[in-house]
Amino acid sequence: MPKYMSGNEIRTAFIEFFKSKGHTHVPSSSLVPHGDPTLLFTNAGMNQFKDTFLGLEKREYNRAVSVQKCTRAGGKHNDLDEVGFTARHHTMFEMMGNFSFGDYFKDDALAYAWEFITSPEWLGLPTDRIWATIYQDDDQAYEIWTKKVGISPDRVVRLGEKDNFWRMGDTGPCGPCSEIFWDMGVEHSCDDPRGCRIDTCGCDRWREFWNNVFMQYNQTPEGMFPLERTGVDTGLGLERMATVMQEVYSNWEIDLWLPIFAKIEEMSGKKYQVGPDAVPFRVIADHTRCCTFLISDGVRFSNEGRGYVMRRILRRAVRFGRALGFTSPFVHQLAASVVDVMSEAYPELREKLTIVQDEIRREEERFFRTLEQGMERMGEILRNMRQDGRTAVDGTEAFVLYDTYGFPLDIVRDIAREHGFTVDEVGYQNAMAEQKARAKAARDVSYVQASLTRIAASLESTPKTEFMGYSRLSGDAKVVGVFDEEGNPTGAGAGSAVVVVLGCSPFYAEGGGQVGDSGALVAPGLRVVIEDTKKLPSGHWLHVGTVEQGFLEAGQSVTASVDEAMRLATMKNHTATHLLHKALREVLGSHVQQAGSLVAPDKLRFDFTHTGPMTAEEIARVEEIVNAEIERAEDVSWREMPIDEAKSLGAMALFGEKYGDVVRMVQVGDGWSRELCGGTHVSNVAQIGFVKVVSESGIGGGVRRLEAVTGAGVVRFFTEAAEKQAQAGEQLRGRIRELEKEVEQLRAKLAAGGVDELINKARDVAGIRVICGTAPVATMDDLRNMTDSIRDKIGSGVVVLGAATPDGKVNLVAAVTKDLAGKKVHAGNLVKAVAAICGGGGGGRPDMATAGGKDPAKLGEALQAVPGLVGAQVGV
Ligand code: SER
Repeated sequence: MPKYMSGNEIRTAFIEFFKSKGHTHVPSSSLVPHGDPTLLFTNAGMNQFKDTFLGLEKREYNRAVSVQKCTRAGGKHNDLDEVGFTARHHTMFEMMGNFSFGDYFKDDALAYAWEFITSPEWLGLPTDRIWATIYQDDDQAYEIWTKKVGISPDRVVRLGEKDNFWRMGDTGPCGPCSEIFWDMGVEHSCDDPRGCRIDTCGCDRWREFWNNVFMQYNQTPEGMFPLERTGVDTGLGLERMATVMQEVYSNWEIDLWLPIFAKIEEMSGKKYQVGPDAVPFRVIADHTRCCTFLISDGVRFSNEGRGYVMRRILRRAVRFGRALGFTSPFVHQLAASVVDVMSEAYPELREKLTIVQDEIRREEERFFRTLEQGMERMGEILRNMRQDGRTAVDGTEAFVLYDTYGFPLDIVRDIAREHGFTVDEVGYQNAMAEQKARAKAARDVSYVQASLTRIAASLESTPKTEFMGYSRLSGDAKVVGVFDEEGNPTGAGAGSAVVVVLGCSPFYAEGGGQVGDSGALVAPGLRVVIEDTKKLPSGHWLHVGTVEQGFLEAGQSVTASVDEAMRLATMKNHTATHLLHKALREVLGSHVQQAGSLVAPDKLRFDFTHTGPMTAEEIARVEEIVNAEIERAEDVSWREMPIDEAKSLGAMALFGEKYGDVVRMVQVGDGWSRELCGGTHVSNVAQIGFVKVVSESGIGGGVRRLEAVTGAGVVRFFTEAAEKQAQAGEQLRGRIRELEKEVEQLRAKLAAGGVDELINKARDVAGIRVICGTAPVATMDDLRNMTDSIRDKIGSGVVVLGAATPDGKVNLVAAVTKDLAGKKVHAGNLVKAVAAICGGGGGGRPDMATAGGKDPAKLGEALQAVPGLVGAQVGV
């Protein structure tokens, strides 16, 4: 019989054993895998060593031992609704493992495993109840088990890929494995007609507890490749090992759960008893433990990803709590018991206990708000089903339970099962997809509006935000509200989207055409990136962003810092719109009224009333005035004053805008431009640098739109313009080169065709072949080339070609083969005589000469004269 060992003792023994075999003890990694997007949660001890197995990461050791917290909930083989009903499923479990990175392989791995479980010094299990499975053709493992270790061959079973080839996921290191089983005893046999055996029934009599993987390959999307260095990865389930050592039937009876059950008993007044009534105890204990670990590792409840898996787990626990009579938040009170049991191995849990309790309590409160009504609705659904004789909960109904009452599908499934029903999950998924499409369409308007209304309601008694951003870009502030995307008050961990309200803020909130500021809120251990700032009519500033690090909640003190570069660029553009406004009135007339604007860091847009398009001159004039003003380097100042005073000073106001009694007037210089404006501005116009209008267009209703850039934006604009021009030039040049090539090819084709035709029409003058005619090409070069090719082809003879040029002239070329040149016929004299007929002249060498003529009308006549002229030269 095994000797009793507690969970904590087993864990320590495992680490000590492998340390004695030269292994380095490596602490468990976080449940949130770092830098591995292929994983939702850490699901095996080897996860943190993945790159080491692949040879991508070098470690100081090549043997390691760890006890890893794992969760497989929410993954591909999600078995959340099994948990509580079976003997060995948990949402979170501990995996003890020993690892070899290119060091020992199968022999030592199996020998170590055997020694640890059988040696009286360690676990001391009786050997006759231990079985092993191996990969079907792993003869090596078979030899080791049967010969070296000495398990009886009839207790070594060969199984296929499904059971004995381990893969981390779709990709990653993998290899054949050997699993070690404990025989719970014949009294637990099943009545499978093929016999109760590991390879047939796989029933609960056969408890797999230790998987030894021989890492040999890397599975990639392209295929499976051998690893450079083989390795060993083993996983021994702590809870399963404890059932063996504590001689209990199910994982739920081991010592690690007892204190948590005891606390549930104390709080509910109900007794934990093995049997169907044990399910709520198990679900609640398991789920509390899992949430405690997940929250400690930084996961927060949310509607997606890890946060949603955790929400499903917690809500399932809360729902099971009803069976024990819990009608108000209770799970958070159990977290301390989890920490008591587990902190010996995971001391960090204790530090996080308060955060864990708060998070769980808040989530419980959220769920309790709708749980009762949801249960009533569920009751109705079940009654209707019975009446109608249906056995599957309608998918749309299941979705309403989710959407309105926050019931994750697991809960609906659990309840349906309790009544012998199922759930139409396809219908549920369809309803979910439809809802998502609708929400997406409505998101920008009603969705955001609904969140804002909710936020405004919670801020009713909170003093409004004090804006300090006219004079400073950073300052300390108190967080007075934190909301999720739906506008519910919340605390938020890393990765959460948040809306933050501060007591005072240097962030400019979108308004008057100027975009909201971006920047960051920081405190020790906390960083929230702010992407935009908006304001509620109530005067509360909403900083919209994402928690990057730490945990954010109301009451904290933070340093709020605006992104300076972004704000400065925006201020330049805002002051520039005032200058443009003023210049437009000077150039176009005082009918120009501002009709809208957008002031962003990279550009500005100014809409104004005016009837027709501006001419290029008018635009140039506006630019000139604005830039002259910038060159004058006038100061920009602002102050608050009664509206009447501002009006009497001639300050421009936005048409149709409602102003209070006291207004803010922004003035350039001594009052060259005066506007009522709440925006932020540079203190001297020289900071703008330069303004360039980049477009002018009509947007309807007698309103024109100018777009302009300033400062560095102008440089960017011109650089881009120059680049575009250079690109266009390059394209044009390329096209010209292509066309030129095409023309050349066509010409060559034409010339080649013409050559044969002319040769065919050769005349004989006293035994000399004379070829003459008009050529299909016109330039002197082309004529010369054509003449050359005819001369080369005929071997002996005289060639004269002529062509009219596009500019109304005549080109002529004459060539005489070497045997005749200068002896019988002189090309220079010949071409000269031909040219004379069409009003020109020329001459040249005896073998080759060119000439020009002025009268293309005479070209035919001139060429016809060639045979006669050749005859004259040879004297016939
Ligand atoms: N990685 C293997 C498993 O998870 C062995 O630890 O089963």
